[in-house]
Amino acid sequence: MSADRERGVTARELRRIAAVLARYPQGDAGSLVNALHDVQAEFRYLPEAALCEVADHLGLPRAQVYGVASFYQGFHLEPRGEHTCTVCMGTACHVRGAARLLETIERDAGVGAGGTTPDLKLTVEEVNCVGACAIGPLVIVDGEYHGHMTADRVSRLVAKLLGEGASR
Ligand code: FES
Repeated sequence: MSADRERGVTARELRRIAAVLARYPQGDAGSLVNALHDVQAEFRYLPEAALCEVADHLGLPRAQVYGVASFYQGFHLEPRGEHTCTVCMGTACHVRGAARLLETIERDAGVGAGGTTPDLKLTVEEVNCVGACAIGPLVIVDGEYHGHMTADRVSRLVAKLLGEGASR
């Protein structure tokens, strides 16, 4: 294992990456997307070292692996929180106060939209209309829709998410 790969990644993390890649035959370039999905399921994002390991294992250029990882919205190249809190900023939600909800979350979590708390508890995101306008303003927590949201309720939600113990 070269020194540049080990930078920013622990031996334990390298073992976790290797365990994921063991599911795929060496040189099986067609497994790229599945392998990236599995690595992300393990880490909640795609560490740089993992991209290198995936490239080497599947016999692909690192630039190609990085290109695929950065192309698909579902892949994340930065660490993600244990929980994700997403505010819909579509028009229908916006006119019902979505901006205030986002400000409240950002204030309570101490990170802006697109950011993750330093303790990796919570990632804050915004999204455009997800087709649930009737229940706006809408906040999505770990995939669960919370409609007719208020600043007070979202503040309590964030406090709960930040206060929960890590699941890993
Ligand atoms: S604008 Fe928020 S769900 Fe449509």
